[in-house]
Amino acid sequence: MVSYKELGLVNTREMFAKAVKGGYAIPAFNFNTMEQMQAIVQAAVETKSPVIMQVSKGARNYANATILRYMAQGAVEYAKELGCPNPQIVLHLDHGDTFELCKDCIDMGFSSVMIDGSSLPYEENIALAKKVVDYAHKYDVTVEAELGVLAGVEDEVSSAVSHYTKPEEVIDFSQRTGCDSLAISIGTSHGAYKFTPAQCTRDPKTGKLVPPPLAFDILHEIEKKLPGFPIVLHGSSSVPQEEVDTINKYGGKLPDAVGIPEEQLREASKSAVCKINIDSDSRLAMTAAIRKYLAENPSHFDPRQYLKPARENMKKMYIHKIVNVLGSNDKL
Ligand code: G3H
Ligand code: 13P
Ligand code: ZN
Repeated sequence: MVSYKELGLVNTREMFAKAVKGGYAIPAFNFNTMEQMQAIVQAAVETKSPVIMQVSKGARNYANATILRYMAQGAVEYAKELGCPNPQIVLHLDHGDTFELCKDCIDMGFSSVMIDGSSLPYEENIALAKKVVDYAHKYDVTVEAELGVLAGVEDEVSSAVSHYTKPEEVIDFSQRTGCDSLAISIGTSHGAYKFTPAQCTRDPKTGKLVPPPLAFDILHEIEKKLPGFPIVLHGSSSVPQEEVDTINKYGGKLPDAVGIPEEQLREASKSAVCKINIDSDSRLAMTAAIRKYLAENPSHFDPRQYLKPARENMKKMYIHKIVNVLGSNDKL
């Protein structure tokens, strides 16, 4: 058993309380590689932002759970080396789907876990989340649970509505689970194709797809029911058009990729939403830079040559999110 406190990590409790009060959101960036980790830490240090580094089950399978844990420990030391004496870094399990996986992460030094029982019947979701909370809280690890299912890209907007979080359930759910934060569904979804062209309208001036707006009415109802309670938004990449264009220009094929407009995320950050999950935008930034570099330098084959611009491009994106979208800069 390793406590995250020995690794220099923090849990989300104080971070979220400050974010809700201050009207900003903490970035939760997924990482699978050393270059992502370096870019996240550099961005957080340069902007003086707290940050959540999150690991999915897929990341554990790809990179190895132990390596990722040591990378997070390394992130704390790296932040100090970059001139940040007291970094606020959370190591979080993203979309944990079993008690055993959450326990394993807690036991190896994670400071926060998500138990995602959102696809289970209501009572089963509560029972699973409560079991994780009971274990996690013994070690002062914070727990994110989820209520409502994120819309899938195939869903019609009308059927997606039925997956939205039901505000009438949030008090009962948060009280009975004892969770520390609640991920809700208000129209975001995972990946680079959040909406089908049929779900969008087209801007007559630019010809670009305009997605349907997030359900701010539901968010505000939830805020009224749970004043000050930390709310989490998953699926919050904005799928920057310039990255998609670069990927497509250099041999990629991402037709009609569309994300959440940043103005809406900016608005959400000012509410009780205090954690915003971004993964796809990092993937796009990395892939765009690598495709461009290799197309322009066909004779190069040293990974450091193309991973360096990839890391720079991700760092630029992370800084942009922190400063211009979430407002978590200058909080350390
Ligand atoms: O929520 C999903 C995250 O983007 C992680 O994705 O499971 O492919 O690592 P992944
Ligand atoms: P995106 O696919 O929009 O980046 O969402 C990531 C996420 O929610 C991770 O849990
Ligand atoms: Zn997610």
